[in-house]
Amino acid sequence: MQIYKVGGAVRDRLLGKPVTDIDWVVVGATTEEMLAKGFRPVGADFPVFLHPKSGEEYALARTERKSGRGYGGFTFHASPEVTLEEDLIRRDLTINAMAEDDQQNLTDPYHGQRDLEARLLRHVSPAFAEDPLRVLRVARFAARYAGLGFTVAPETLELMRQLSESGELEALTAERSWKEISRALMEDQPQVFIEVLRECGALKVLMPEVDALFGVPQPEAHHPEIDTGVHTLSVLEQAARHKQPLTVRWACLLHDLGKGLTPEEEWPRHIAHEHKGLKLIKAVNERFKAPKDCQELALLVGEYHTHGHRALELKPSTLLELLQSFDVYRRPQRFEEFIAACEMDARGRKGLEQRSYPQADYLRGAANAARTVAVQPLLEKGFKGPELGEAIKRERLKALKAYKEQA
Ligand code: CTP
Repeated sequence: MQIYKVGGAVRDRLLGKPVTDIDWVVVGATTEEMLAKGFRPVGADFPVFLHPKSGEEYALARTERKSGRGYGGFTFHASPEVTLEEDLIRRDLTINAMAEDDQQNLTDPYHGQRDLEARLLRHVSPAFAEDPLRVLRVARFAARYAGLGFTVAPETLELMRQLSESGELEALTAERSWKEISRALMEDQPQVFIEVLRECGALKVLMPEVDALFGVPQPEAHHPEIDTGVHTLSVLEQAARHKQPLTVRWACLLHDLGKGLTPEEEWPRHIAHEHKGLKLIKAVNERFKAPKDCQELALLVGEYHTHGHRALELKPSTLLELLQSFDVYRRPQRFEEFIAACEMDARGRKGLEQRSYPQADYLRGAANAARTVAVQPLLEKGFKGPELGEAIKRERLKALKAYKEQA
C-alpha cells in the first residue's frame, strides 16, 4: 500500500500556514489489511480509519457516487484498484486535491498549485456536486483566505448557483451546516462567507432572513451605509477585527433581522424592529440547532441592542430591567458579550468604525452598581420569598439612581 498526505495539510504547507490536522489517503489496501495493522474503523461502512497511535484519519482511496439526496445518500466505492488520481478528482477544490508522499513529492493532477498561485478557489470536477455542503465550504475558504487575495472562480460560483437552485441545500443536516457556519464565522473575514453565499443564491435558501436585509434602507443620519445588509456585513467584519467569540459574531449576524419585516411605506424607519425580529432569530437559531449560548445571546442582543446604544439616556428603572433580563448577577460574561455586540453594531457603520463607545463602560458601571446591593442585610430585616425579591429590586434601583446621578 502507498500512503499520501492529502487535502488541507498539503494546501496549508504550500501556503506557508501552520498545519494542524493531517489527513491521509491509502492506495492499494483493503479494509482487512488496515484492521490487521491495528487501524480503528471510524464507522461500519465508511472506509476511514484512525491511526492506532496518532489518531489521524486514514481514508482508503475511493470513488463516490451519489445514490440519493442528502448526506445519508452516499455510496462509497473503495477498493485497492482505485488510483490516487481517481480519489483526488472527486474532492472539492483543486487546492484541496493535492497529495504528497513521505519525500514531499507532490501529486497535483488537477493543478492545485497553479490555482494557489492564482489565488483561485476552483472546483476539481463535476463531482463537486455530489456533496452540497461544499457550497458552504467554498464560502468558508473564501472567508479564510480573502486576506491572501483568494476569490471563487466564476465557473465554481456558477456550479454553486446551480446547486443552490436545485433544492439540494435543504437536504443538509443542521449539524453539518452549523459546523461550517460556526467555523466560517470564526475566520478572519466572516463577512466574505455571507457575501459568497449571497452571490451564489445559497443565502436565500439557508438564511432568507439575512438575505432579505439587502436592499432595505436605514436612516442615513445613523447609518451612512444606508443598506441594512451592508451594515450587517460591516458589524460582522468589526466583530472579527476585534476578535470576538462565536456567540458575539452569531448575535451580530442576526441582530437586525426585524428590519427585513418593515413595510416599505415605513422605510427608512424601523419601528420596533428589535421585537419583531425575535421570531426570525428564533427560527434561524433552531434551523441550525445553534448551541444554547449562541441562541440566547442572539435573542438578547436582538431585543436590547438599541437599549445598549441609548444606555446613557435610559431611566434607572429601564436600566434595572435590562440588567435583570440579562441576569447580570449570575451571568456577568453574557452581559459583557452583549456590550461587545452593541459596540460592534455601533462601529459597523460606514466611516464610524473608529468611534468611541462610552456606553460600554457606562453599562459595566451600572451592572457593578446593581451588584453592590447586598442581600444579607435584607434577610436580617426579615424579608422572605417574593417580598425579598421586591426589596432587592428596590435597593438596586436606588443604587442605579445614585450611579446615574454621579456618572
Ligand atoms: N473534502 C471534500 N469534500 C468535503 C469535505 C472534504 O472534498 N465535503 C476533502 C478535501 O480534499 C479536503 C479533505 O477532504 O481537503 C479534508 O477535509 P477537511 O479536513 O474537512 O478539510 P481541510 O481541507 O483539511 O480544511 P480545514 O483546514 O478547514 O480543516
